[in-house]
Amino acid sequence: MSTARYLAAALGVLLLAASGATAQDIAEDGPEYVADGSLRRPSNYREWVYLTSGLGMTYGPAGQTEGRAPMFDNVFVTRAAYRDFMRTGRWPEKTMLVLEIRSAEEQVSINNGGRTQGRVVAIEVALKDSAKFRQTTWAYFDFSAGTTAKPTAQALPATARCYACHGEHAAVENTFVQFYPELMEVAKRLGTVNRGYDPARKVAP
Ligand code: HEC
Repeated sequence: MSTARYLAAALGVLLLAASGATAQDIAEDGPEYVADGSLRRPSNYREWVYLTSGLGMTYGPAGQTEGRAPMFDNVFVTRAAYRDFMRTGRWPEKTMLVLEIRSAEEQVSINNGGRTQGRVVAIEVALKDSAKFRQTTWAYFDFSAGTTAKPTAQALPATARCYACHGEHAAVENTFVQFYPELMEVAKRLGTVNRGYDPARKVAP
C-alpha cells in the first residue's frame, strides 16, 4: 500500500473511533428484560444525556418531603432517543428515562447557605415499549429499596399513580418535557406538544 493510501486508511479508522455514539450505544442503552419479564436497572445511566435537575418537585411516594428538606432530582435519557427527539420532537420505541432522586445536603464543606446533592434516595424509570406494554405504551418502574436499589423491577401496574399523572399532565407523550427546556423548544417548533397540555393547569400538592 502506498504511504498516502495507508495514511488515508488509518485516518478512516481514527475518524470512526472518534465519531463516538453509534449503533453500539443504542444496543447498550436499550432496555434489558430478564427471564421473568422484569427490567434490569440500567447501570450506566450517568453516561446518558442529562436533561434537568429539579429541586423539591414533590410527588409520588419517593418524592414525599414532609418534614424533610426538599430533594433534588436529575433526569437522564438514552442517547439514541435524545438524538431522535432533537430531530423529530417524538420519542422512539425503547426510549428510557431515569429519574434519580437525591437528598439535599446543607453545610457541606465550605458551603454556608446553599444545598448540594447527597445520596441517592430513589431511582425510577419510564420506558416506551408499545410491543411489550400494549395497553399503556409507556411503563413505569421503581428500583428504590430503602437505602439500596433493586437490580431488577417489574413494571408498576397501570393503576399506579405514575400513569395517571404522567398521562394527564406531561407536555410530550407521557414525558414532562415542559421541564426540560431544550426539548420543549424542539417540541414547540415541531408541533409535537400534546394537544391537551395546558401550562396553566396545576395539581394539588
Ligand atoms: C403528581 C404527578 C406525578 C406522579 C404521581 C409521578 N410523577 Fe414522575 N414526574 C413528574 C414530574 C413533574 C416530573 C418532572 C421532573 C423534573 O422536572 O425534575 C416527572 C418525571 C419523571 C421521570 C423522568 C421522565 C419523564 O417522564 O419526564 C420518570 C422516569 C418518572 N417521573 C417516574 C415516575 C414513576 C415511576 C412514578 C410512580 C411511582 C411517577 N413518576 C409518578 C410527575 C409525577
